[in-house]
Amino acid sequence: MKLFIDKDMIYDGELVLVNRNYPLKSEPLKSGMKSIDSQNGIYIKSKMAFMLKELLFDIGVKNEFVYVSGFRTLSEQRNIYESSIEENGVNFTNKYVAYPMCSEHQTGLAIDIGKRCEEVDFIRPDFPDKGIFKSFKCRAVKYGFIERYKKNKEKITGISYEPWHFRYVGYPHSIIMEKENLCLEEYIEYVKSFKYKEKSLFYSDINNLIEIFYVPFEKCGYIDIPDNISYTISGNNIDGIIVTLWRS
Ligand code: DAL
Ligand code: ZN
Repeated sequence: MKLFIDKDMIYDGELVLVNRNYPLKSEPLKSGMKSIDSQNGIYIKSKMAFMLKELLFDIGVKNEFVYVSGFRTLSEQRNIYESSIEENGVNFTNKYVAYPMCSEHQTGLAIDIGKRCEEVDFIRPDFPDKGIFKSFKCRAVKYGFIERYKKNKEKITGISYEPWHFRYVGYPHSIIMEKENLCLEEYIEYVKSFKYKEKSLFYSDINNLIEIFYVPFEKCGYIDIPDNISYTISGNNIDGIIVTLWRS
């Protein structure tokens, strides 16, 4: 069958890379998000909300966790950035707070989760590397989440180690990234070597053979995919689209 790929799709989807080099092109709306904690006003994308619920169910306990921050509007990100500059200075702020329009929180695909305590630090919540928190981190990849800002990737991401910040990229991308030790910046580059009609990246699990390939901006238009196949598409927010085919 034919799948129409439009250039506008480059800037939307679960695999968009949003950082200081690749800001958001437009501001996603809160109306496209789902509330997961009405008390704290936390909203995220609905597929991610569903997978987060499954992950927490898998782990079995959730009272220890507190959702600290989910979707942010541009004005919220700007306020956080500016008030952190005032309170903590420029150096600290640039390590831990993304510049407005350069935050994954504005996509609704990121969540900060911390250990429940009396005074939760909004910018750097506590996320211990043990117990239930470690289980959460380890199992998260199975549900499509990645620990986005790892210690050994600070030079590439431009953000300091943030064990509390999880990004939803979807399965099996999360698993491949973890196995290959790639942060999102590196994964987006890696996938570009699997170009439509040239080469694909395959991942198999018990039920599926999953095929992943990249469609560069110049090849946008109609592309061929097998009939009656489940697929997802996502832009990379730079120059193309990533297609994921579920060959069961
Ligand atoms: N804390 C992350 C980098 C953000 O502000 O998006
Ligand atoms: Zn965060």
